[in-house]
Amino acid sequence: MARILGIETSCDETGIAIYDGEHGLLSHALHSQIALHNLYGGVVPELASRDHVKRIIPLINNCFAQAQIDKSTIDAIAYTAGPGLNGALLVGASIANGLGFCLDKPVIPIHHLEGHLLSPLLGQHKPQPPFIALLASGGHSQIIMVEKIGKYRLLGDTLDDAAGEAFDKTAKLLGLPYPGGSHIAALAKQGIDAYKLPRPMLHSNDLNFSFSGLKTAVSILIDKIKIKQELTLEIKHNIAKSIEEAITDVLVKKSMLAIKKIGINRLVISGGVSANLTLRDKLNKIENIEVFYPPQNLCTDNGAMIALAGHTRYLAATYNYSFVVNPRWQLSEL
Ligand SMILES: Nc1ncnc2c1ncn2[C@@H]1O[C@H](COP(=O)(O)OP(=O)(O)OP(=O)(O)O)[C@@H](O)[C@H]1O
Ligand SMILES: [Mg+2]
Repeated sequence: MARILGIETSCDETGIAIYDGEHGLLSHALHSQIALHNLYGGVVPELASRDHVKRIIPLINNCFAQAQIDKSTIDAIAYTAGPGLNGALLVGASIANGLGFCLDKPVIPIHHLEGHLLSPLLGQHKPQPPFIALLASGGHSQIIMVEKIGKYRLLGDTLDDAAGEAFDKTAKLLGLPYPGGSHIAALAKQGIDAYKLPRPMLHSNDLNFSFSGLKTAVSILIDKIKIKQELTLEIKHNIAKSIEEAITDVLVKKSMLAIKKIGINRLVISGGVSANLTLRDKLNKIENIEVFYPPQNLCTDNGAMIALAGHTRYLAATYNYSFVVNPRWQLSEL
């Protein structure tokens, strides 16, 4: 058992956490830069790095204060080394290595997607490998075979937009704030699947995704409606429900296909889209499979998943001490 400080700075969230092998998550703190980047319509890498610099030390202090432990009691420091924005990653890497140097503790570089993949281990219901994982986030839609922790085989990927990106882009067409997934989900609660949007590659019989056509379909739908009438709240509810149904139907169908092809009935869902309750509902209703999710508040980027991944690597002693960042790191390179 060990106690690990986790540092996540791959994009627009500064996430810090302390994970203890015996007692679980001792504390976590998160600062989101959404408001900062909203002014520019997307993440501005230089501003992201500067904001991480500003937030990271107060958040680390806050985590140690919350956990009521001294910095010297940690066994190692884990930080996201990639993939992500180079400057943003360097902030986390620098602080992790600086702290490690001062405290004389090992520093463990973590793959951001391994953090997402293992985040269901932060929940009550913990998956044991081997399992199939659906990683559905803002930047990725992948189906991965997890043979054991650290051994990942990519079975399917998106050919264009990720599932979270599809939520975000269609949400923008509805005039909703970024990131749009949770806003679509909130509107969808009062809607019906009135528009039967396309389910891209539903019957392709492989494990790949393609979501970019969905935003075109939604854009055409909105234009058509607007010729005849205003976009009323009721129509927005129904469009949101139709988007949510289309995306979640594809995610469920492909996950089930992976289970059938591989013959393993344990499924892990992670990444920001795994917070979607309609997706969870659909999967929970399927018989003869076991489904695992991260806790609802730890689906999007956070430091806890990095601390936890660091903990598994620390115990397995599969880490090195190097000061690295790799903005284009592939999970299959692990
Ligand atoms: N309830 C929800 N329903 C659907 N999508 C959601 C929900 N909550 C968050 N999302 C989506 O999750 C995404 C963010 O997830 P996450 O933080 O895991 O992605 P990321 O870190 O940007 O991408 P990556 O990890 O691939 O680099 C956004 O696209 C957001 O719209
Ligand atoms: Mg992420």
